[in-house]
Amino acid sequence: MTDRTAKLTSHDGSSADLTVLSGTHGPDCVDVRGMNKSTGLFTYDPGFATTASCKSSITFIDGGEGILLYRGYPIEQLAERSTYLEVCYLLMYGELPTPEQSESFNSIITQHTMVHENVRNFIAGFRYDAHPMAMLVGTVGALSSFYHDSLDINNPKHREISAHRLIAKMPTIASYIHKHSLGQPFMYPQNELSYVENFTQMMFAVPAENFTPNPTAVKALELILILHADHEQNASTSTVRLAGSSGANPFASIAAGVASLWGPAHGGANEAVMNMLDDILHSGETIERTIERAKDKNDPFRLMGFGHRVYKNFDPRATLIQKMCHDLLDELGGDQPLFELAMELEKATLADPYFIERKLYPNVDFYSGIILRALGIPMSMFTVMFAMARTVGWISHWIESHEDPEGRIGRPQQIYTGPARRDYPA
Ligand code: SDX
Repeated sequence: MTDRTAKLTSHDGSSADLTVLSGTHGPDCVDVRGMNKSTGLFTYDPGFATTASCKSSITFIDGGEGILLYRGYPIEQLAERSTYLEVCYLLMYGELPTPEQSESFNSIITQHTMVHENVRNFIAGFRYDAHPMAMLVGTVGALSSFYHDSLDINNPKHREISAHRLIAKMPTIASYIHKHSLGQPFMYPQNELSYVENFTQMMFAVPAENFTPNPTAVKALELILILHADHEQNASTSTVRLAGSSGANPFASIAAGVASLWGPAHGGANEAVMNMLDDILHSGETIERTIERAKDKNDPFRLMGFGHRVYKNFDPRATLIQKMCHDLLDELGGDQPLFELAMELEKATLADPYFIERKLYPNVDFYSGIILRALGIPMSMFTVMFAMARTVGWISHWIESHEDPEGRIGRPQQIYTGPARRDYPA
């Protein structure tokens, strides 16, 4: 494609011919790297709402059409026909694995599911009522103190084994955190089980009884993990890239991503949605009152699980999870009243001009908590589940950023609004 340019003419008459860059899909971008040199100007874009921070071939979202592709494959097809480990392979290596590659990858992941015994002691050192995300941030960061043999970020093999270790160990760490909160013994991984079956075993089994994974629960969790695996340059993935850009090791970079995901405006929303629905259900507050509060600029309350920086149409993941809710609650029972309330809330907002004008639709977090609670996962563990699923996305972007020839340390500009230069009082 011939180079296209955009001309920028500044207020002082200086101008710059800026190159317009195109990707496989999505909007064109103006390359502003040379702008400051020819005009002295920088750009201002709080929240990076209109700024591409990198080139990436991992995931594509079309927010207007509600499209989500992992390495070009539609999320709907992967949700229906793939497994989480196959999606991990796809996100990491860029292609779906052959049967032989799949068998080898699954075996490698299985071989890495155990953690150093001192990680168990590390988790056991937290207060019994520590929030699981607090334990996850600390434990993932601490992993760099156990794996000195794979911290050379310039070594592709070290990058790959760190990715394998993180994908393999997150379910073990997540379930240990859960068991610590319950005061129950930690359950070791069982290599004869599949990745998701093994997670349910470590989460719900006790030494006193035999455990058989529930196929319905395994299927629902497989979907949840696939749908949360990656999502372009969201806040936590951008955090991982920024941390990694300084040369931080993979475990420290992923711990930074865990910390960012914790926020209720991001991955913490699934827990916030359930608290909101519970409050409505048990406080007797009407849906109308809840919606009025969400629209009231003087009220900090927001309708959790609604809105998205990119999706200005339905989040395709919310559609797929809502369908799973129908199937799961019919079979497992669970929070039918809560699910019905959620659907009533969705219906009411989709008819409300405030939400229609702002294109605020349910996002991935709106229904996921209903499934997780039906599976017996406590609310405080919901964002840990999101982090477990997103680990493969984070580490795939971390690896891609280290392979990017244009990659450099992230260091944004600012507009300084503080005091003009002044002298210290004599
Ligand atoms: C995730 O980026 C990703 O890809 C994230 C994610 C992923 O997979 O990684 O998809 C996961 O984080 C999903 C989002 C989960 N968060 C929530 O559900 C929290 C509730 N949502 C909002 O906080 C908000 O919608 C955000 C944070 C998701 C998006 O914020 P933006 O893009 O900065 O939008 P905005 O705050 O500028 O809102 C635009 C307008 C504002 O009104 P006006 O000032 O124009 O009058 O919409 C309003 C906002 O007040 N608005 C809401 C609202 N979300 C936006 N009003 C009420 N309730 C809401 N939920």
